[in-house]
Amino acid sequence: MKDSFGREISYLRVSVTQRCNLNCVYCGKTDCDKKENELEADTIAAIASAFVRCGIRKIRLTGGEPLVREDVSEIVGKLRALSQVQTLALTTNGVYLKRFAAELRRAGLDSVNVSLDSTDGSTYHKLTGADVLHRVLEGVEEARRAGLSPIKINAVLMRGVNDDGARELVELAKETPVDVRFIELMPFSDAGEDDARVVTNAELLQRFPFLEPLGETDGTAQMYTGTGFRGRVGFISPVSRRFCASCNRMRLLSDGKVKPCLGDDTVYDLLPLVGDEARLTQEIRRIILQKPAGHRFGEIRPAHGLNRTGG
Ligand code: 5AD
Repeated sequence: MKDSFGREISYLRVSVTQRCNLNCVYCGKTDCDKKENELEADTIAAIASAFVRCGIRKIRLTGGEPLVREDVSEIVGKLRALSQVQTLALTTNGVYLKRFAAELRRAGLDSVNVSLDSTDGSTYHKLTGADVLHRVLEGVEEARRAGLSPIKINAVLMRGVNDDGARELVELAKETPVDVRFIELMPFSDAGEDDARVVTNAELLQRFPFLEPLGETDGTAQMYTGTGFRGRVGFISPVSRRFCASCNRMRLLSDGKVKPCLGDDTVYDLLPLVGDEARLTQEIRRIILQKPAGHRFGEIRPAHGLNRTGG
């Protein structure tokens, strides 16, 4: 269905947990690694089903880190059973992907986005708090073997921390059939609010003049490629080149609240309505019509860190 600004809302991001096995400096992860309020697989499926009635056709599982949930494949299976869902995707830090990739594929998952901010082991360790780069790379390999497609790599750069490794990330898209997408640092943490840390996508394009625009987007990213590249390079610029006017997303948090905009603090609780599909659907329609015109990055630091909203 369309929201009050004429945007067709067709994409639901579902945070299945706020727990995460990493501690990335830019995430804004707060307090609790609590499991208590996590929705059960059946509840997630019931809410998602009501969203599908309102026009959702693509669902992405996020976290926290979705693969810390032992029942993640069960959730995937239940969402795959919603016949109107055309695309079922998942965003992960990749640390547990090797173990889960084949099982997720069998359960009906189409594609994965893997967060990978550096191809250098010690820089990766510094950024994420864990010395596990090799496991992420093995996870990506296993995802490809399992037939998950497309595989996209998400990279967030911070000046003076990992921006000197941008070229190696671009090289990944040259050497392997993956899309590497640079996401501009958003203000979710002290680091993200420090303008000096932000590397804009415009700056990256100046650094890599050999990248040629494809004149296409993959939803949010402006896509580029280079001679001899097997994959593509994408640039997602939520702040310097906001795409709110074409935003088609809604977000379900792991405790049953709906957040219509990543950069706005308003949330709505759906939990009291679970079990009453008609009222649930009616409430979701009402919430979609409340989706704000645009994010408020620059004015606020969102109250929910990325461990709650999953990006
Ligand atoms: N700014 C930009 N992107 C971020 N992500 C997490 N925190 C931030 C931030 N402050 C990214 C993750 C992941 C995606 C879902 O969001 O790296 O790839």
